[in-house]
Amino acid sequence: MSRFFTTIEQTSDEDLARIYELARGPFDDTTLSGQGVALVFERPSLRTRAASSSAVSEMGGFTTFFSDEEIGLDTRESAEDVGRTLAQTYAICAARVRHHEVFARIAAATREQMSLINLLSDVAHPTQAVADVLTLAEHFCGGDVAGLAQLKVAYVGDATNVTRSLAVALLRLGADVTVGAPDGYQLTPGGLEDPHAVRGGGTLRLSDSAQGAVAGAHAVYTDAWVSMGFEEETAQRRVDLAAFRVTSELMARANPSAVLLHCLPAHRGDEITDEVLDSPASLVWRQVFHRRSAMRGVLRWMKEEK
Ligand code: CP
Ligand code: NVA
Repeated sequence: MSRFFTTIEQTSDEDLARIYELARGPFDDTTLSGQGVALVFERPSLRTRAASSSAVSEMGGFTTFFSDEEIGLDTRESAEDVGRTLAQTYAICAARVRHHEVFARIAAATREQMSLINLLSDVAHPTQAVADVLTLAEHFCGGDVAGLAQLKVAYVGDATNVTRSLAVALLRLGADVTVGAPDGYQLTPGGLEDPHAVRGGGTLRLSDSAQGAVAGAHAVYTDAWVSMGFEEETAQRRVDLAAFRVTSELMARANPSAVLLHCLPAHRGDEITDEVLDSPASLVWRQVFHRRSAMRGVLRWMKEEK
């Protein structure tokens, strides 16, 4: 039985609750005993590769890593044929892709026989969002994700793939999310992983002021100004986003006990200062820790009886 975890938006509240619950279970089990997970990375990674490979082996499975240079999705051969090939050997394919639509193409080509996990695409980073929810729940409410309702979370900077998945996950739990970003870098409605489309959860607010966004926030989150694939825009982005750097002065406008989150890698001196990243308010290393918890939750959920 295959399952798909490619966006938070497309995962039901019930399944998300189960993933959060399973993520908190003990480290060792035999859920993946003898089963293979293909790790396909079209883009670089440190945390995601580490979390995925360690979670799989803790659960008795094995991984094979495939880089973009080796398999060349849609260059050496079609994404469909890559999917058909991997499905002969692996129960699960976990992939970091340039174009999100590749997941639907692989699912169709393999007749949904192989489970798929999105390890970051141009629109979403759902396993990161699970880790972020676990980190916030651990800090604010003893691990109970339901306790995040009404938490005020401010995201500051470029509204990225990470922002979208984070916002959808938090809004679904009833948290209030404010995104502070300049014109041209703000969340826009539509497409997959659209926080504007979340109904009945928390409140989404957009602001063109970093100071306005963080006012009273319990948690402040930021991500790179230059995401993978946008390297040619580096100089312009540094100019456009300069007023959205997370500094100690900005953190002082948040709640006095506010915490700081960043998916990493950090670009110290750009989107965040050393002082904030290395401050006691920073939960970034717990986020890294929970990347592996998140993978355990997703993998266990995939292998549960429906
Ligand atoms: N946060 C994150 O996905 O890190 P990597 O790109 O190093 O995997
Ligand atoms: N928004 C960043 C996240 C890296 C983990 C990127 O896509 O490069």
